[in-house]
Amino acid sequence: MYRYAQKLPRLLRSLLLLTLMTATSAQAADRIDLIIDTDPGADDVVALLLALASPQELNVLALTTVAGNVRLDKTSRNARLAREWAGREEVPVYAGAPKPLMRTPIYADNIHGKEGMAGVTVYEPQKGLAKGNAVDYLIDTLKTARPHSITIAMLGPQTNLALALIQAPEIVEGIKEVVIMGGAHFNGGNITPVAEFNLFADPQAAEVVLKSGVKLTYLPLDVTHKILTSDARLKQIAALNNGAGKRVGDILNEYIKADMEHYGIPGGPVHDATVIAYLLKPELFSGRAVNVVIDSREGPTFGQTIVDWYDGLKAPKNAVWIESGDAQGFFDLLTQRLARLK
Ligand code: RIB
Ligand code: CA
Repeated sequence: MYRYAQKLPRLLRSLLLLTLMTATSAQAADRIDLIIDTDPGADDVVALLLALASPQELNVLALTTVAGNVRLDKTSRNARLAREWAGREEVPVYAGAPKPLMRTPIYADNIHGKEGMAGVTVYEPQKGLAKGNAVDYLIDTLKTARPHSITIAMLGPQTNLALALIQAPEIVEGIKEVVIMGGAHFNGGNITPVAEFNLFADPQAAEVVLKSGVKLTYLPLDVTHKILTSDARLKQIAALNNGAGKRVGDILNEYIKADMEHYGIPGGPVHDATVIAYLLKPELFSGRAVNVVIDSREGPTFGQTIVDWYDGLKAPKNAVWIESGDAQGFFDLLTQRLARLK
């Protein structure tokens, strides 16, 4: 290309260079500066691999970990494992909150396995944690960021971001948007009849984030339960014949068993990976701006998200609620990106 360009008249050469530079800067301008807050967790690991395999679109600044599916030491180790498997060890991992803001901690090791990731061998990854706590990292990074420049993907209980907002409310100025896996409305809950795990695990934290006024998009069970694995979809991942395809297949084959049995459905959801797919290809999803209220009162509706889908109350719209998605499009994207990994 360069040799060919050398033969072009100078004016044409400059035009070619200008076009190339414009295209690159446009792509760079669209690139999302992203912090992923996560409690790996089987579906978190799939989300992390998808994100770390997509550097053209996602500039992953850091992974911040929180207790949720399993204890903080294990979610932090699993985040480091996902980073190692993606070959992205330059991305720092900061450990955050070991427990929710107020409620007694709950875990989901009955679903994710006692190490937080059933189906694969878990071991101590090469690279350690970054120095410092995730909450301090969030505060320092968001305080000094360009206005509304950083996107946060929340894949677990929202404790870290809530603590950062409580300590330094001004960090909202650095946040572009927060995209959350959590909540349930049409679908019903997965930890109680009405509550989804991430919200149930720390509803007070979710309330702090909701009341902060940041731009919020929720990917609830309403959409994740419409994007299910199938034998064909698992086969397309296995057919990659690489480490990432094998790992994700082994993880999902274990992870989906509980939901398939509980709901009597033909496949299982990959909840957290839909957040990353939404960032990569929002056109795969649809929803609407709604008013959401979170119930943090003790009782049968603890952790419920109440969504005014038909705007009956004419209350302020405080979130975008994603309610459907293109399941095959999601698995095609996931497969295509996993193909890039070893
Ligand atoms: O309810 C599903 C959510 O809870 C997912 O984020 C899963 O990883 C668990 O944390
Ligand atoms: Ca999670």
